[in-house]
Amino acid sequence: MNHFREILIAAAIIALAPAVGWAAPGAAGGIEGTPHDFSASGGGVGLCTFCHTPHRAISTQLLWNHKLSTASFSWDATETTAGTAYPTFTGDTYKGPTAKCLSCHDGSVAVGDIAWWNEGAPVAPLDNTQHLWPDAFNIGARNGTLGNMSGNHPVAMPIPYGNAANTYNGVTTGAGATLSEWVANPASVNIRLFNDTGGGNIKAGAVATRTGIECSSCHDPHNKASEDDLFLRGHLAGNTGGAGGYICLKCHNK
Ligand code: HEC
Ligand code: HEC
Ligand code: HEC
Ligand code: HEC
Repeated sequence: MNHFREILIAAAIIALAPAVGWAAPGAAGGIEGTPHDFSASGGGVGLCTFCHTPHRAISTQLLWNHKLSTASFSWDATETTAGTAYPTFTGDTYKGPTAKCLSCHDGSVAVGDIAWWNEGAPVAPLDNTQHLWPDAFNIGARNGTLGNMSGNHPVAMPIPYGNAANTYNGVTTGAGATLSEWVANPASVNIRLFNDTGGGNIKAGAVATRTGIECSSCHDPHNKASEDDLFLRGHLAGNTGGAGGYICLKCHNK
């Protein structure tokens, strides 16, 4: 059996994981044993080298090994209530980490479709049953149209960091935002913020006036900073914000 086929089987087993009682990530235990551990199913691929590869990566940024979606992502609303424009971005060009998550979680690319492992270049396309589609873990599944983010919380968007309007991914916080109803620095309560350096690059960390959020502001794909299941950087239940608190109140001061 070649390695590529083993990867396919690994992906298929992982797709079945919830049904067979796969370990839930829980809080901060690391990636091993979570649904993002593609080594645990006997496929042979390593813990890290499914998503990242030291050589022949698809993108230097994050040394990304998983085929990127070519979908153009957008929402069915043009603006939030605050008047902030919902962004449009393309899976294989947007530099924010959200594009990396959507390389699996938009369902268009097979989970096993990686570029390089064990001196081999696996061949695409793979079997359709291994796509996160139309599974619950495909976050666009409610709408069923590729690239349709409607009904999903904004990402690749500015946040009113420092209780001020910010510009990120070409979008500026709308004039209707009630700036006092935001946690000034969510990074202080375990939220991961990003800054847009201009020129299309996105870096981790908050910088006044150019801070934004990505999928990984709320989820840690490595399960190191998680406080709850689903890789969440806060709790799914509760009514208090702050460190160790309810996820929504870590950014929204409502
Ligand atoms: C399921 C895919 C996946 C797996 C498996 C994975 N990573 Fe990542 N990794 C990501 C994503 C997505 C990011 C972007 C992180 C973010 O946005 O917070 C990332 C970011 C990183 C970074 C950049 C710095 C940082 O902390 O953000 C490093 C270094 C890294 N990963 C190392 C590893 C190592 C080492 C392993 C194995 C123990 C691993 N990753 C396993 C998806 C993965
Ligand atoms: C290499 C493909 C891949 C990448 C990249 C990836 N995921 Fe996943 N993710 C999966 C698979 C497969 C599952 C398990 C799906 C299932 O069990 O049906 C999963 C599960 C999850 C879950 C549910 C975890 C649980 O406890 O059940 C969350 C949340 C999640 N991913 C978020 C993310 C985020 C956020 C990113 C980017 C920072 C990301 N994923 C990147 C493949 C990926
Ligand atoms: C504002 C915070 C936030 C952002 C941003 C966010 N998520 Fe989530 N995500 C959550 C919460 C909270 C849940 C749990 C929802 C529930 O079950 O009540 C969740 C659940 C999930 C799940 C589990 C399946 C499901 O549909 O409930 C996946 C997979 C997932 N998110 C992936 C992503 C990806 C990929 C992105 C970026 C495109 C993303 N998330 C952005 C907060 C967020
Ligand atoms: C990482 C920070 C962060 C977290 C955590 C977060 N949000 Fe948001 N939320 C934002 C940002 C940024 C916006 C866009 C603000 C704007 O309109 O400029 C937003 C917008 C919204 C909106 C307005 C959408 C519209 O069209 O007007 C709602 C509702 C919302 N979030 C609910 C939630 C809920 C519910 C949770 C918890 C599951 C949550 N948020 C967690 C940052 C966050």
